[in-house]
Amino acid sequence: MPESNPPGPNTGFTPLQRILHWVVAALVLATLAGGLTIGRLGFDRVTAVLGGPGRDVLYEYHKTFGLIVLGLMLIRLFVRIDRGRPAYDPPLKPWQQGISLTVHYLFYVLLIAMPVLGWLATDMSDYPVEFFAWDFPQVVPKSETVGTLLYDWHRYVGWAIALLIVMHVGAGLMHWLVLRDGVMGRIALPMRPKSRR
Ligand code: HEM
Repeated sequence: MPESNPPGPNTGFTPLQRILHWVVAALVLATLAGGLTIGRLGFDRVTAVLGGPGRDVLYEYHKTFGLIVLGLMLIRLFVRIDRGRPAYDPPLKPWQQGISLTVHYLFYVLLIAMPVLGWLATDMSDYPVEFFAWDFPQVVPKSETVGTLLYDWHRYVGWAIALLIVMHVGAGLMHWLVLRDGVMGRIALPMRPKSRR
C-alpha cells in the first residue's frame, strides 16, 4: 500500500474515500449494536424482548449490514491501494503516525475478517445467511464444532473492533477539538461551497 501521496496544501482523502468512510462507520456501529444486543441477551431473551418477528428482523439486518460492510471494505481496500493516503500537512510526529497507521491497518483486517467469520459461522451452523429477504446459498459444509469456534472468534473480534473504535474516535476528537490541526478535515464529508446569492 502506498504510504502517502506527495505533500501539498489542503491534502485530504478523495470524495469517494470520505463517503465510504462515513457510510462504513454508520453501518459498523449499527451492526455492532445489533450484534452486542444478540450476544449480551442471547437468543431466548432477544425473543422474549422483541418477539419472534422482531428477533428475526434484528438477525436479518445484522447479517445484511455485515455483508454490506464486507463489500464496502473490499472496495475501500482497493481504493486505498490505488490512491494511497494523503500526507499530513503539517506532518504528524512519528509516534502519532505509527499509532494511526496501526489502527487504520487493523480496521481493514478486522472489518474484513469480522463479516467473513460471521458468514462462515452462520453457514457452518446451518442457519440462513440472509441478505435482506434473500438467502445466500450454502458455501461450506455443516460443522457444529467449527461453527461454534467461529462464533467465538466473531465475539473476540467484535470486542477488538469496539476497542479500536474507542481509540479512533478518541484520537479524532482530540485532533478536532484540542489540537485543531486539520486532521479531521482530511476525512470530513465533501460539502458543496455555499452559493453567494
Ligand atoms: C461488520 C460486521 C459485523 C460486526 C461488527 C458483527 C458484530 C457482532 C457481535 C459483536 C456479535 C455478538 C457476539 C457475542 O457477544 O456473542 C455478533 C453476533 C452474531 N453475528 Fe455478527 N457482526 C458482523 C457481521 C456478521 C455477518 C456478516 C453475519 C452473518 C452473515 C453475522 C452473524 C451473526 C450471528 C448469527 C450472531 C449471533 C451469534 C450467536 O447467537 O451466538 N455477523 N456479531
